[in-house]
Amino acid sequence: MIIGLIGFGKVSKNLFNLIKSDDIQFVTSFENRSSKTIEHIKKTDIEVFDSFKEVAVNSDILISATSPGSALDVAKNYGKYCDGIYLDLNNISPDTTFEIAGSVKNLVDGAIIGKIDSENPILYVAGKKSDDLQFLNEFITTKKISDNIGDAAILKLLRSSYTKTLSALLIESSEIARKNNLEDEFFEILALTEGDEFREKSISRINNTLDNSKRKSEELNQIIDYFDDEELIMVKAALKKLNR
Ligand SMILES: NC(=O)c1ccc[n+]([C@@H]2O[C@H](COP(=O)([O-])OP(=O)(O)OC[C@H]3O[C@@H](n4cnc5c(N)ncnc54)[C@H](OP(=O)(O)O)[C@@H]3O)[C@@H](O)[C@H]2O)c1
Repeated sequence: MIIGLIGFGKVSKNLFNLIKSDDIQFVTSFENRSSKTIEHIKKTDIEVFDSFKEVAVNSDILISATSPGSALDVAKNYGKYCDGIYLDLNNISPDTTFEIAGSVKNLVDGAIIGKIDSENPILYVAGKKSDDLQFLNEFITTKKISDNIGDAAILKLLRSSYTKTLSALLIESSEIARKNNLEDEFFEILALTEGDEFREKSISRINNTLDNSKRKSEELNQIIDYFDDEELIMVKAALKKLNR
């Protein structure tokens, strides 16, 4: 079996490391790629084709893990040449997923949940063809959500809505705790119900949110755009907080 990779960043690199089998060959291309990506690819034994079109034509499974902004173009430009499964792992809105479904033959929409460079992220997949990806369980936990294209993208948005809103609330509450010289005690009493690692996880979440507040705000706007029939009072408040 041939698995083609479009994009060789953190996601693809980890999949390449996890999916090790004599029966599976990975292929990719240097076409228009940065020196950083080319260096990463050269450190592996992946077969390199001249073009992504060639990668697409030869792949039984073609994985797109590039960036949210390029996902649709990648599907339109290369995905259309793939007769196998097209697995999109980009963090894109369900609307983009539906557009991609119109450009490729056998779309599976996927979400990698969990720390990307860990040994045990979980791959969630949606779409009729996701049954054909169950063999991946040998290498990475692979859970089918449903036959409906878009369900993985919707779940990603809902997860993002929860985690980002919670981060905004944590930022607000811990700021007030600090002003009152009660920051340690604040985390300590929350850890009683939220678990021993609550402090470390919260601080990591707060720092990550503050360091990437522009991207996080864009993602919250994406949630508000997609679920425009919903009230989303909490998400809108989180956006207001992040924009401050
Ligand atoms: N990191 C995570 O925790 C995570 C988890 C789940 C999902 N995702 C999603 O998965 C995707 C990849 O994430 P990542 O963390 O692996 O990103 P990354 O480390 O930034 O790597 C992106 C890779 O895609 C390549 N690329 C970008 N545009 C391309 C194009 N038009 N054609 C071909 N290759 C292209 C980049 O090559 P160049 O260097 O040449 O630009 C690079 O090799 C993103 O959409 C992200 O939202 C990420």
